[in-house]
Amino acid sequence: MEGTDSVVHAKGVVRVYGEGDTAVRALHGVDVEIESGQLTAVMGPSGSGKSTLMHILAGLDRPTSGSVTIDGIEITTLGDDALTKLRRQHIGFIFQFFNLLPMLSARDNILLPLTIAGEKADPEFFDTLVERVGLADRLAHRPAELSGGQQQRVAIARALVSRPTVVFADEPTGNLDSRTSGEILDLMRSSVETYGQTTVMVTHDAKAAAMADRVLYLADGEIVKETGRSSQHEILQIIDTLDLQ
Ligand SMILES: Nc1ncnc2c1ncn2[C@@H]1O[C@H](COP(=O)(O)OP(=O)(O)O)[C@@H](O)[C@H]1O
Ligand SMILES: [Mg+2]
Repeated sequence: MEGTDSVVHAKGVVRVYGEGDTAVRALHGVDVEIESGQLTAVMGPSGSGKSTLMHILAGLDRPTSGSVTIDGIEITTLGDDALTKLRRQHIGFIFQFFNLLPMLSARDNILLPLTIAGEKADPEFFDTLVERVGLADRLAHRPAELSGGQQQRVAIARALVSRPTVVFADEPTGNLDSRTSGEILDLMRSSVETYGQTTVMVTHDAKAAAMADRVLYLADGEIVKETGRSSQHEILQIIDTLDLQ
């Protein structure tokens, strides 16, 4: 049934950084399924493992043990080339600090994932996407000539342009003022509504999580609670009860 398929599936995911006395166990055996067509929010205190989990679910990092499938393909046993290819086809990633290439125009930054893959954008989709994210008159500008909000719009368009199976956003508004954050969050939500874009977003902001269809709460490398669509008030209460500040 549309909207209930799981497109990313993680089981028993453990991630240990380093070895011996200094080893850090960032994830303790996480089980999670990401549902197609939904916006899933991930909340949790700093250091709880949110970025580690996002990177692993997106195939940007490999777990120490456990299983991750993207669109039914087990990624933990794939070679580097195959993983890179799978990522290009299935994953869009939005970072807190935008991660744009400074030498490229907004247009070329947006098109980069396709350029690297040797593909061309569908011109109609590109035009509507650029219109939607409000960059139609900024395409020739380089990142340094754009505001933070505009740079994040470029990053969002870059993540969406290949119509990936899943978009991951790791604190996409963490570096933006509150008004700009609101605009970016509206954009994230509308890509779920308009394109059915499956999206997973890490956020500290209960207001942002209240826009999600589902909220996962992470503490000390484990998912300790999961809720469906919730109000900002309900989310704040859960954070308070679980002591996740
Ligand atoms: N490259 C790394 N090397 C060593 N420890 C790391 C590394 N990345 C993250 N960690 C540690 O793993 C834990 C989880 O980090 P992270 O996933 O970044 O959490 P969050 O995104 O929730 O703030 C923290 O204790 C952090 O210090
Ligand atoms: Mg983080």
